Amino acid sequence: MSAPLLAIRDLTVSFATRRGGHAFQAVSGVDLTVQSGEVHGVVGESGSGKSVTMLAVMQLLSQSATIAGSIMLDGQELTALSDRQMRKIRGARIGYIFQDPMTALNPLLTVGEQIAEAVRIHRGDVGHKHAVARAIDLLRLVAIPNPEKRANQYPHEFSGGMRQRAVIAMAMANEPDLLIADEPTTALDVTIQAQIMELLDQLRREKNIGIVLVTHDLGVVAGVAKSLSIMYAGRVVERGLVDDVFAAPHHPYTKGLLESLPQMDERVERLSAIAGAPPPISARPSGCPFHPRCPYVIERCRSERPVLRPVGPIDVACHRAEIVAADKGTLQDA
Ligand SMILES: Nc1ncnc2c1ncn2[C@@H]1O[C@H](COP(=O)(O)OP(=O)(O)O)[C@@H](O)[C@H]1O
Ligand SMILES: [Mg+2]
Repeated sequence: MSAPLLAIRDLTVSFATRRGGHAFQAVSGVDLTVQSGEVHGVVGESGSGKSVTMLAVMQLLSQSATIAGSIMLDGQELTALSDRQMRKIRGARIGYIFQDPMTALNPLLTVGEQIAEAVRIHRGDVGHKHAVARAIDLLRLVAIPNPEKRANQYPHEFSGGMRQRAVIAMAMANEPDLLIADEPTTALDVTIQAQIMELLDQLRREKNIGIVLVTHDLGVVAGVAKSLSIMYAGRVVERGLVDDVFAAPHHPYTKGLLESLPQMDERVERLSAIAGAPPPISARPSGCPFHPRCPYVIERCRSERPVLRPVGPIDVACHRAEIVAADKGTLQDA
């Protein structure tokens, strides 16, 4: 079998504290595999380490970050590359949609000019005219109506949904093999969200690219992702095929996320199935990081950190996964 498109192994990212105190880990021992032609969802609450993991792939973390572990793109180790070599990968082999939509587009340039620029960064041989033509093709690819006219407009003349399509067009400018989309629909309403998901799925089918879809919303991955990883406090706590995980979540945190999905149940109180808040990065608990919030907690969970292990078709980091998976009741009944 050929190497997976993206294989992250035992990735740890630590940040030095400002006054040179001991470093803390934002991401700990993360394993993540993405195949060509599939959407892989990365799901977790704010602060769980999703963006740090993806920025580590791009080597776009700040100077204060230290990376350990392996990140392979198509069998090539990215952590060993120089800045110069990495610049050839970013935007060319990996397209990236940043979490902050305000930084993605330059308000002073037309949308067409900046997509053309994205083409020319990696293809110096492409002349300006061809790059603009390519920008129009890319706007067409992401289903922006009237792309010739739209290319000459500025970002503020686009609606939120259209702007996100333009950002996706820019990420696709050099036909990447891998597209990383960090919360691409957070600022958009649900109808537009669904349309952007449909667009990503269409790109996956037509271009056979692998897509990492980062989101805090499990509902967003449900329709479009084939496999997923659930992150909590800097670690992957559960991963598997979306169908398997949705049929029987094995981690109490995943179970809580699923119960919180509004369409699962009309009752409003379910919206906060998981009591408490995720731990701050500087004070992550001993043992299982989820134990202070977990209704299934036993003594062992306080002292011994569970590692990912296979249980049926799923990999899960929970001492009580078998019991959680078999429990048909809700988290609040547990
Ligand atoms: N440059 C940085 N310096 C120090 N800490 C950071 C930096 N970037 C992120 N962090 C911390 O790492 C943790 C994970 O952040 P992040 O990956 O952005 O979470 P998510 O994307 O899942 O919301 C957070 O506690 C965040 O404060
Ligand atoms: Mg983030």
